[in-house]
Amino acid sequence: MVSDKKNTFPNDFVWGAATASYQIEGAWDEDGKGESIWDRFSHTPGNVDNGDTGDVACDHYHCWRDDVTLMKELGLKAYRFSIAWPRILPNGRGEVNQAGIDFYSQLVDALLDANIEPYVTLYHWDLPQPLQDEGGWPARMIVDAFSEYTDVLSRAFGDRVQNWITLNEPWVSAFVGYRDGRHAPGHTDLSEAVAASHHLLLSHGQAVPIIRSNCLEANVGITLNLTPQEPASPSVADRNLATWIDGYINRWFLDPLVGRGYPHDVVKGFGNAMGSVRPGDLEAIATPIDFLGVNYYTRNIARADDISEKDNAPRRVFRGDEITEMDWEVYPKGIYNLLGRLHFEYAFPSIYITENGAAFRDEIGPDGQVDDPARLSYIKRHLEMIHKAIQIGAPVKGYFAWSLLDNFEWGFGYTKRFGIVYVDYQTQQRIPKSSAKWYQQVINDNAVS
Ligand code: FCB
Repeated sequence: MVSDKKNTFPNDFVWGAATASYQIEGAWDEDGKGESIWDRFSHTPGNVDNGDTGDVACDHYHCWRDDVTLMKELGLKAYRFSIAWPRILPNGRGEVNQAGIDFYSQLVDALLDANIEPYVTLYHWDLPQPLQDEGGWPARMIVDAFSEYTDVLSRAFGDRVQNWITLNEPWVSAFVGYRDGRHAPGHTDLSEAVAASHHLLLSHGQAVPIIRSNCLEANVGITLNLTPQEPASPSVADRNLATWIDGYINRWFLDPLVGRGYPHDVVKGFGNAMGSVRPGDLEAIATPIDFLGVNYYTRNIARADDISEKDNAPRRVFRGDEITEMDWEVYPKGIYNLLGRLHFEYAFPSIYITENGAAFRDEIGPDGQVDDPARLSYIKRHLEMIHKAIQIGAPVKGYFAWSLLDNFEWGFGYTKRFGIVYVDYQTQQRIPKSSAKWYQQVINDNAVS
């Protein structure tokens, strides 16, 4: 391992950027694509800021060739994108839409021609609406449907795609979609959310051997959103709250993946919402993976509100004053702590940072350029912390900036810009921001200086 002032990364470190189908593709009903839960959700007034939808988004469905050229110019070694399930199987299962296969097939070929390694996410939240009509993730039938979809994809692309991410952030799919109602399908039912989380994990576990059987060289993992929790004070109430949130966001997914089953404190907290686990499920979920994908943006400071005077304690941990447009604290140290924990407590064989980045208010300057020093500094400091984590043994193999392009940020629509490349949504012009040019240099040097 190399250690020097320049923060040189391991030789084979994978430098990439990430996107997701619904956030960039547009062409929501073209060439045989079926409706997804995000089409339905965004077309329902009141769900997304400004009434924005992903109908056009970055029009990547038509601009993909130029986008691959752009990635090549930026020197990216890898590109993480997701496949829209309803583009492949418009009804969720059954009839395959050849035009959908062709679209991704051409994209994969163009990436490989440009020496950019594809990292494919099978599911980044755009469930076929017909499957939601049958009950969606809370219904057990979804597990077989996901297996079928996985089989179709890994047969179609397994000869060229080596890196597979089954799910993106199952916590968000389950709890933001089925309990908070802020994401599609917009339900607000805890027991649905808990059942959804179990079926997501089980779908993942069953997908892993399918991918391996269709792709002998497969490198398979799952991506989790992991948010470190810090108690605001050493009081019992704050510490208990931090433990609880850590349980249902982080341990709820990490523990079963490594064969420890669901964490007891959270099972107890969810009470009778736990009915969907059947014999054999936990073994399937614990199928060994090649890597864990980590999406890290910020930490959370846990502060219990409804506590008696006696339990209260002076706050010791405060939010820093550097905050992004998402109202998320910039906290690079959190990624170092998290990687250390994942390595020493969970021992995943490899880890990729599959998302990390920040939304800031970007504007095109008089010179036509987009200068984004805050984003550049965010990425730089997180990379320094990742480098530090590698020095203590965390097996971090790659980094994907979120995102390649400004895009449709779910419930916030187009109001939040995360791209290292600016998108003018009127003209679909792409302008690499100063962070992208800086990142290009990092990739070239394999180092952050
Ligand atoms: C993650 C999502 C991604 C993007 C970023 C900001 O939770 O996976 O699609 O919205 O947040």
